[in-house]
Order: sequence, then structure tokens, then C-alpha cells
Amino acid sequence: MFLSFNHRNIAGTVIAILVLLLPVSAQGADDAIEKLPPSNIWFAPAADGSDLPDAYLQSAALQTEGKDPHSALFTETEFPSAVTCGRCHQKIFTEWASSNHAYASISPMFHKFEQAINDLSSGTIGSFCVRCHQQVGTQLGEPRELPLWDRSIVAREGITCVTCHRVKAEFGKVNGERHIEPGPLSDPVVGIGRAENLGEVLQNSEEYKVAGAPGEEGTEIHLGAIEFEQIGDSQFCVSCHQVAVNLGIKLEVVWEQYRDSPAAEAGITCQDCHMGKVPGEAEGYAEWPVAIVNGRVVGDPKARHSNHAFYGPGYPIAHPGLFPFNPRGLRWTIKEWLTFDYRAGWGEPDWEDQLTAGGLEKPDFPPEWTTRKDRMFARFVIQQNEKLLEDKRRDRLAVMENGSRIDGPFFDGSPPERGEDLDLRYRVTNTDKGHNFPSGSLGAQPEIWLNVALINPDGENVWESGYVDSLGDMADLHSLDVAAGTVEHDDQLFNLQTKFLTTNVKGTDREMYLPVQFDIDQLPFLRPANVPTSVLNHPPFVRMEGRSIPPLGWRDAEYSIPGELLTKPGTYRLQVRMRSRAEPIYFMRFVGATKEMEQRINDWMIDIHPYAVEFEIK
Ligand code: HEC
Ligand code: HEC
Ligand code: HEC
Ligand code: HEC
Ligand code: HEC
Repeated sequence: MFLSFNHRNIAGTVIAILVLLLPVSAQGADDAIEKLPPSNIWFAPAADGSDLPDAYLQSAALQTEGKDPHSALFTETEFPSAVTCGRCHQKIFTEWASSNHAYASISPMFHKFEQAINDLSSGTIGSFCVRCHQQVGTQLGEPRELPLWDRSIVAREGITCVTCHRVKAEFGKVNGERHIEPGPLSDPVVGIGRAENLGEVLQNSEEYKVAGAPGEEGTEIHLGAIEFEQIGDSQFCVSCHQVAVNLGIKLEVVWEQYRDSPAAEAGITCQDCHMGKVPGEAEGYAEWPVAIVNGRVVGDPKARHSNHAFYGPGYPIAHPGLFPFNPRGLRWTIKEWLTFDYRAGWGEPDWEDQLTAGGLEKPDFPPEWTTRKDRMFARFVIQQNEKLLEDKRRDRLAVMENGSRIDGPFFDGSPPERGEDLDLRYRVTNTDKGHNFPSGSLGAQPEIWLNVALINPDGENVWESGYVDSLGDMADLHSLDVAAGTVEHDDQLFNLQTKFLTTNVKGTDREMYLPVQFDIDQLPFLRPANVPTSVLNHPPFVRMEGRSIPPLGWRDAEYSIPGELLTKPGTYRLQVRMRSRAEPIYFMRFVGATKEMEQRINDWMIDIHPYAVEFEIK
């Protein structure tokens, strides 16, 4: 099964997804390069004849109209957009476009959470969150409360190309305090030394149609590359991926886990597992040219290729016109996109035909969507984006399956007997050598749990653990339905999600999903402690309850099924699956997420390693 993932990664996302006319195989990669259009389809002339990135620059200018007339240009000269880089690094651009790095700034959940925590803390959190998620914007001096639609486009790109390729000093675990070198596109990029052929391109600037020197005609290009070893090391990632809040609460802990892991010992880096050809495994890298300039392949067509999808369990829930990052989508503003009803048939030929024929009641279109032509163009953008999202979904399942294993069920002691209580267990193993499963990042609240069900000989589901309530939440103490008494508490739930524990006034611990003061508890998140954290080892009144599994470790999920459910002779079936979701719904409600956001979070839930076994009761 994984062959197909490899295949895609070798053969190229750009080609495999976007140039659907070209079926490519792994061996066909060379041919594919020959046939690759001058640039990625995103840059080819659009249906309306507009070209990119000129069209992009125009829309950027349009979108800042009425504000500082130079601001679009200005940000381009300081921090070039990914679109500009993508002109020559098409495959990397396309991988990045649907990555969670590209999503960091646009993420609706980020904004709801960020606003909620700022409100709860009376603003003391300040720009803490935006400095990682919207680092370029922060460096440009955009205020934290500036709405997404008023930000520069490069700030909307989140962790964009220059966020990594314009950093040339080593930063440690500094909660996102890094420095991105400002400067025009012609300034050097930072890399690991894969620009041996850049000199040749610059010398033959006419052939490659590039501006080989400042002021020269041709496509703009960086006139140099700085070699910086740290970008190839795990340490490079931790200035953002290890997060400590003021009192020792850690929102990201992946570095701590990695540092002591078998992977670190073996010299396997974050990049090896997250940018290689197999999602989540250090199985080497795909091959692809480093750059294709105006249709000409530069250097070795089989150079080592670092996949910029940054595989992981995360997924986007933004409007599909706004994410993945599609330069064509920039034709409309964020506010305009939000009024495009993508769930209805707008812009689909059949639907449009029916509308024209009078077979549909005409929706009250907002001004920018009144013409069929515009709706069809918008639908085209959404369809391109949905292709990228399908791939993301596949990679996500692959990284989760590659990082874990389920064994069992094991019936310890005697085999299942009629009318007897049945004790069983499944073993969940973290097959990833790099860090815990899941790493246990708290800010993100990601969930991974086991869902086990017993089906009796009549095909009825008679027992289950890991079921969900009416919102889709697990039936634990946080479930709103459990609190209301409409759903039974899931006593045997196996859940790997990390939780905060707070000490309440009675001195007992209780689970809490966001330890800020919404009742009489202390405000450990934000207020200075009166006892040094080093004395208590954790902040007063709050600590973390980690339940994730260490590298190569395992944990047993134990269940007991009452004998009264096993009185019928015949064949019983035990079904198991691990489920993964980015956010709990109770938490989304808490920060004021919309129904649409809830729906999309649930739509993307995946089943990892689903299987069933049968046993007989005589
Ligand atoms: C030091 C950098 C850093 C800071 C500061 C930071 N984050 Fe994050 N954030 C991350 C990283 C890295 C991830 C991905 C973690 C993962 O998948 O395990 C993430 C993921 C998230 C996610 C889940 C993904 C999504 O977009 O839905 C949300 C929500 C989020 N952060 C909100 C916040 C909020 C709110 C704050 C401020 C309280 C904050 N972050 C501060 C680095 C940071
Ligand atoms: C006009 C084409 C063009 C544009 C635009 C362009 N590059 Fe490049 N890039 C190249 C070429 C050519 C090379 C060298 C390839 C080789 O040596 O095989 C290169 C190499 C690189 C490398 C490898 C450096 C190393 O030392 O490993 C990185 C990283 C890079 N570019 C990033 C970027 C970023 C970021 C942008 C946007 C700010 C960008 N490029 C824009 C053509 C371009
Ligand atoms: C989160 C950080 C990060 C972001 C964002 C990022 N890169 Fe990279 N990039 C890397 C790392 C790490 C490497 C590989 C270094 C190594 O060899 O270990 C790399 C390698 C490259 C290379 C060298 C060729 C290769 O495949 O190894 C190019 C070119 C490049 N990146 C361009 C881009 C472009 C264009 C973008 C934006 C669309 C981008 N990068 C976004 C971190 C990043
Ligand atoms: C400037 C800060 C920054 C840097 C540097 C950075 N990341 Fe990230 N990374 C983030 C943020 C923020 C997110 C989550 C964004 C979101 O989903 O809202 C993220 C998401 C991810 C994810 C996806 C997680 C998921 O749940 O799917 C992976 C994997 C990842 N990063 C790996 C890396 C690696 C490997 C490096 C180093 C080469 C790196 N990152 C460098 C900020 C950063
Ligand atoms: C041996 C391979 C391997 C190495 C090394 C590795 N990872 Fe992962 N990573 C995985 C796999 C597999 C997953 C998916 C399963 C999971 O969520 O733990 C993952 C998941 C993640 C996630 C998603 C969030 C989560 O809670 O799991 C982030 C973020 C991440 N890795 C960042 C990093 C960073 C940063 C490093 C380096 C410090 C790193 N990884 C090293 C294999 C690896």
C-alpha cells in the first residue's frame, strides 16, 4: 500500500496532482521533467489568460488599495512571498501550499483560540502566539489584533519560505524568537549547500531568462546562497517546536522527547522523518531537481528532494478557497471568499446550467459572485485545492499508520466462555523512534484514542468503548453530554491525549483543558508564581498529565466485558480502530468556534489500523 505514497513522492506532487494529463511512474520521472510545462500549472495562464505571479502581484496590490499604496510592494521587497519562490521551486511550493506550515496564519482555530486566551488574560498574552504563527507579519510590525484580511499577503502565508530560508543565526529553544533577514528577492537564500549550479545560472542569465545582476532584465532570482549547517539539524526546528509558557507549562515538548530518543542516538533528524519520501519514517529522500528555471532543469534532475509537506496529523478546516494556499485564489479577498457557498453547487457546470434554465431558485448572490464566469473560476480554484487536500489526507493516514501499531485482542487466561466476564487487551505500540506518540503538544489539543466494539451473533453492537457523544467528543469528564447526563461515562476509555491537571481549592486534582481563570482556580498560565517553579518542579496549582507513549514503547488498553452480554452461542466480532482528530469539540465551543468549523474538524477524523477479529462462544 505504501508503494503508492512513495510513488507519488518520487514522481512529484506537482505532476501527479496538477498535471493530470501526464500519468507518471517512478521510472518515468525523467520523462516527466522533459514534459513539465514551463512552470507549475499554478503559474500557467489561467482560463482568463492572466499569468502568475503577475496576477498575484496585481491582486496583492488590489487588496491593499485604499491603504498605504506601497505596502504590497514594500512587503515583497522585504520578505518575498512563497509564490515568487515557487516560480522556480514549483514542486516544493506545491507541497508546502497544503502543509500545516502554510496554514499557521490562516487557521480559524488558531484565531479563535488566540482571541479567547487574550480575552481571558486581559491581553497579557499579547503577541506571544502570533510571533510563531505569523512570524513575518510580526516582524513587519503588524499589530497582533490586525485581522487576517488587513495583513500583508506574505504574513498570511504563515511559516513561509523565508521564515526558514532567511534565518542564518542559530536560535535555541526560544519560543519563536528568531530573526528573519529582510531584503528583496535578489538577496541570498539560506540553505544546506544545494546551490552548486546557481553560479552557472547567473552566468548564463540570458539562456535562463533571469536577472543575473541587479537591474538586469529577466525573472528575478536570488543572487547567492548562504550555507548554514543548522537548517539540516533537528535544532533548527525547536525554536518553534519546543514551547514553554512563563511558568514552566510546556505547550510543545517534542524536542525534549527527541533529545533522548533512539533516533537522536542514531543521528536521524526531524527532517529525515518529516521531509523524506515515506511519511514519518527515515527511509531516505525522493529525487527531483532543486530548481526548474523558465522551463530549464538546473543541475542534476535526480538531486535529493526534501518534501515540504511536513507530514503530520494536523489538517486544515479553513474555507477551501482560502486554503491550500493557491495564488489564483488571491483574486478575491478573504471576506469575499467567505461568502462563496462552496457546499452548494455554485460554479459547477450542472448546477449553473440548471440555474440558467430556471430549474433552481436563484440564490441571493453577494455582489462579487453574481456572474457565472466568476463562480466557475472560483470553483476551479476550489477543485485544485481539493486535489491537494485529498493527498494531504492520504499522507496524514500514512504518517499515523507508520508511527503506530495495534496488536490483539489478547484474552489473558481462559478463552471466551458463555456468560463469563471477558477480560481482554490490545497493545498499542509507538513504532516511531523520534518522539512520543503523540508528542503531546498541549496547545493543539490533538486527540488519539481507541474505539473497540463487540458485535454479537445477531450483528448487534452490544458493547463499546471509545464511542462519541452527540458533538463527536469522547464520553469522558469533558463531554457536555456526560455532564448533562444524556450519555454514559466511558469508564474504560483509552485516550492518549495530554491534559492539564489543576488543583482546586479543596486541594484535589482535576482535569482542565485550559488552565486560565474561569473559576476560582489560580491563573498559573499567566500570573507570576509566588513560589519559584524550580522548587515545586511544576507551576503551583497546575501540572501536565501526559498519557502519550514514548519512542518504541507500548501501552495496553484493558477492557472487561460483562458476561451477561455473552450469553448467546455463535460468532462474535471484536472491532478496533484508533481515531485521530485535531481538536475536541468541547474546546472548540469554549473558544467560540463556529458550527462550520466543528463540522470540518469532525469530517477529517481518521481511522487508523481498523480491523476485526472473530471468536466463537459455544
Ligand atoms: C514557539 C512557537 C509557537 C507559539 C508561541 C504558539 N504556537 Fe501554536 N503551534 C506551534 C506548533 C509548532 C504547532 C504544531 C504542533 C503540533 O502539531 O504538535 C502549533 C499548533 C497550534 C494549533 C493547532 C493547529 C491549528 O492551526 O489548528 C493551534 C490552534 C495553536 N497552535 C494555537 C496557538 C495559540 C492560541 C498560541 C498562543 C497561546 C500559540 N499557538 C502559540 C507553535 C507555536
Ligand atoms: C528564478 C528562479 C528562482 C527563484 C525565483 C528562486 N530560486 Fe531558489 N534556487 C534557484 C536556483 C537556480 C538554485 C540553485 C539550484 C542548483 O544549484 O541546482 C536555487 C537554490 C535554492 C536553494 C538551495 C540553497 C542551498 O544552499 O541549499 C534554496 C533553499 C532556495 N533556492 C530557496 C529559494 C527561496 C526561499 C526563494 C524565494 C525567496 C527562491 N529560492 C527563489 C532558482 C530560483
Ligand atoms: C519549516 C522550515 C522550512 C520552510 C517553511 C521551507 N523550507 Fe525549504 N528547506 C527546509 C529544510 C530543513 C531543507 C533541507 C535541509 C537539509 O538538507 O537537511 C530545505 C530545503 C530546500 C531546498 C533545497 C532542495 C531540497 O529539496 O532539499 C529548496 C530549494 C527549498 N528548501 C525551497 C523552499 C521553498 C521555495 C519554500 C517555500 C515554498 C520552502 N523551502 C519552505 C526548511 C524549510
Ligand atoms: C517559525 C516557526 C517554525 C519552525 C522554524 C518550524 N515549524 Fe513546524 N510548525 C510550526 C507551526 C506554527 C505549526 C502548526 C501550524 C498550524 O497547524 O496552525 C507547525 C507544524 C509542523 C508539523 C505538522 C504537525 C501536524 O500536526 O500535522 C510538522 C511535522 C512540523 N511542523 C515539523 C517541523 C520541522 C521538522 C521543522 C524543522 C525543519 C519545523 N517544523 C520548523 C512552526 C514552525
Ligand atoms: C523516526 C522518525 C521521526 C523523527 C526523528 C521525528 N518525528 Fe515527528 N513524527 C513522526 C511520526 C511517525 C509522527 C506521527 C505520529 C505521532 O503523532 O506521533 C510524528 C508526528 C510529529 C508531529 C505532530 C504532532 C504530534 O503530537 O505527534 C510533530 C509536530 C512532529 N512530529 C515534529 C517533529 C520534530 C520537531 C522532530 C525533531 C525534533 C521530529 N518530529 C522527529 C516521526 C518522527
